Amino acid sequence: MATPPLASVASALQGAKPDGPSAVRAARPIKPLGEQLISQIAAGEVVERPASVVKELLENALDADASRIDVRLEQGGVKRIVVADDGSGIPEAELPLALARHATSKVSNLAELEAVATLGFRGEALASIASVARLTLTSRVATASHAFQIASDDAEVRPASGGFGTTVEVSDLYWNTPARRKFLKTEATELGHCHEAVRRIALARPDVTITLTHNGRVLEHRRATDIGARVLALLGTEFAAQHRAVSHVAGEGLERLALGGFIGLPAVARASANGQYFFVNGRFVRDRILGHAVRAAFEDVLHGERFPAYVLALELDARRVDVNVHPSKTEVRFRDSQAVHRFVFQVVQQALAAAAGRDRASGAVYVNAPTSLADLARMQTQTPLSMGVAQPSAPYFAMFAAPGADNAETFAPPHAAPPEEGEHPLGFALGQLHGIYILAQNASGLVLVDMHAAHERILYEQLKNALDCQGAAEQPLLIPAVFNATDVEVALAAEAHEVLARLGFSLSPAGPNALVIRAVPALLADADAVALARGVLADIEKYGASRLLTERRNELLSTMACHRAVRANRQLTLTEMNALLRTMEATERSDQCNHGRPTWTQWRLADLDRLFMRGQ
Ligand SMILES: Nc1ncnc2c1ncn2[C@@H]1O[C@H](COP(=O)(O)OP(=O)(O)OP(=O)(O)O)[C@@H](O)[C@H]1O
Ligand SMILES: [Mg+2]
Repeated sequence: MATPPLASVASALQGAKPDGPSAVRAARPIKPLGEQLISQIAAGEVVERPASVVKELLENALDADASRIDVRLEQGGVKRIVVADDGSGIPEAELPLALARHATSKVSNLAELEAVATLGFRGEALASIASVARLTLTSRVATASHAFQIASDDAEVRPASGGFGTTVEVSDLYWNTPARRKFLKTEATELGHCHEAVRRIALARPDVTITLTHNGRVLEHRRATDIGARVLALLGTEFAAQHRAVSHVAGEGLERLALGGFIGLPAVARASANGQYFFVNGRFVRDRILGHAVRAAFEDVLHGERFPAYVLALELDARRVDVNVHPSKTEVRFRDSQAVHRFVFQVVQQALAAAAGRDRASGAVYVNAPTSLADLARMQTQTPLSMGVAQPSAPYFAMFAAPGADNAETFAPPHAAPPEEGEHPLGFALGQLHGIYILAQNASGLVLVDMHAAHERILYEQLKNALDCQGAAEQPLLIPAVFNATDVEVALAAEAHEVLARLGFSLSPAGPNALVIRAVPALLADADAVALARGVLADIEKYGASRLLTERRNELLSTMACHRAVRANRQLTLTEMNALLRTMEATERSDQCNHGRPTWTQWRLADLDRLFMRGQ
């Protein structure tokens, strides 16, 4: 994976510079908040478990502009948590206030609270931690000749040794509340949560070097790097091999929305949500609206119970998002959640929808580069003007035109350099392998296509388009097909008559235990009509006729596409193969089949050379 194109996503992933968390600010003193402001802050429990402590301390370090953070844990963090940073430090005189409730250097009035630019803002984390554990704070500012220390149990400030920056040591969590200690899980579980807290910060801030040590063993050591390298290293090799970069900006000023990051292709979706990271202005959040937008964007390519993996960062004006919603600060409220949902959905969907062969390797994505007319229409109806017509802004545009990116891993943006006339990204068919794969030659080397999977995906998209328009056209059968049906099938066929008609079926009873098919959906004219009808009836039974055209539409379309798609072992002529390649190029989402498997893969000449050790 070439690094230069990814570097500029960093600005998106690093949060909302210049006005997001971690923006460089002049040092401000810690001050008690006024009563009024205190009442405005979402108060409550912050120390649920060791990982909450780790998270709060890491956030403080980032707010202090640290470039290096060391996290050391003992016994899953229950025994000891030490977080040391090289940030701006806390002046001697302010140390007692740092441990006081409702005292902060980060906000001082309502306007600032409504446009929070730091990760912390309640002035509460250290005080809460100190109330359930023993806490020692050691800090040295740049102008001090040595460090000072304060401990939560005697509140006296003393000189101490230590370099520039701040070290917080938290030990014996819940020593004074044994009942709560009982709720802690095993060391491994608590460690897992702490590790996850570190991972989130590491993903949000690749420019910071971060180390995690447990019982003296280094678990994580991440040097400062660019966003691409950090994300791919943390999300694993599968993700690294099959992902797309996302980068898009829409609107300006207060209206500006920017989304950057990486989404795993359906083939690397997971069995749980553990690969999902969403950052809003540099803050990790769990937000229903954002989660839903991504999920919806994956709808067409990811069925069933799989969870897409992604690292996405949304940037917007701090005034458009309220972070003062929940004491743990992982929830946010958008002033205009619909616009945010629409934006995220569209950007991710477009990233996934890019037609086969255009941009797979580079992962470059243009929300404003419609790949079909239908696409264009959709954008124009759903998108406010400011989004529909915007060009990628300069820094994002630069991402796709990085120097030195001259191999198959880059592609030229359609705006800048349209593909040459007659150029076919998937190349031309050479032949067929064991009746399963098509071999084709394109500019970069060899293309292997899984015929069945590719065809199934194409059909799926065609059926979907047909349904989107007034319903699928029907193809009357020359000889109606009669088949033995169960009582249930006969009953379902009658009940779901309308839905079946909409799909292009004409299906009616022909005696007590028989059904007759007079027409099938035109797109599936060559399918085995009986098997197809049975498959659709089975879906109706499973999901109910009414849900089949709405929530369960994907399942239905898959069933239908699957019955007609080219089966393995069917001999195709070269003309047929080339036709399939051309259709793939013109079909959205044709890179993955309906089950999330890839439909084709590229072997570049360089890959082949390596196999034969050529040029070494
Ligand atoms: N690592 C650190 N480096 C420099 N200053 C720090 C550090 N940790 C805490 N402080 C100072 O101590 C103050 C109190 O920290 P604390 O975490 O309790 O509150 P906060 O960060 O202001 O808000 P929140 O409760 O939302 O985290 C901060 O406002 C900051 O000025
Ligand atoms: Mg804090």
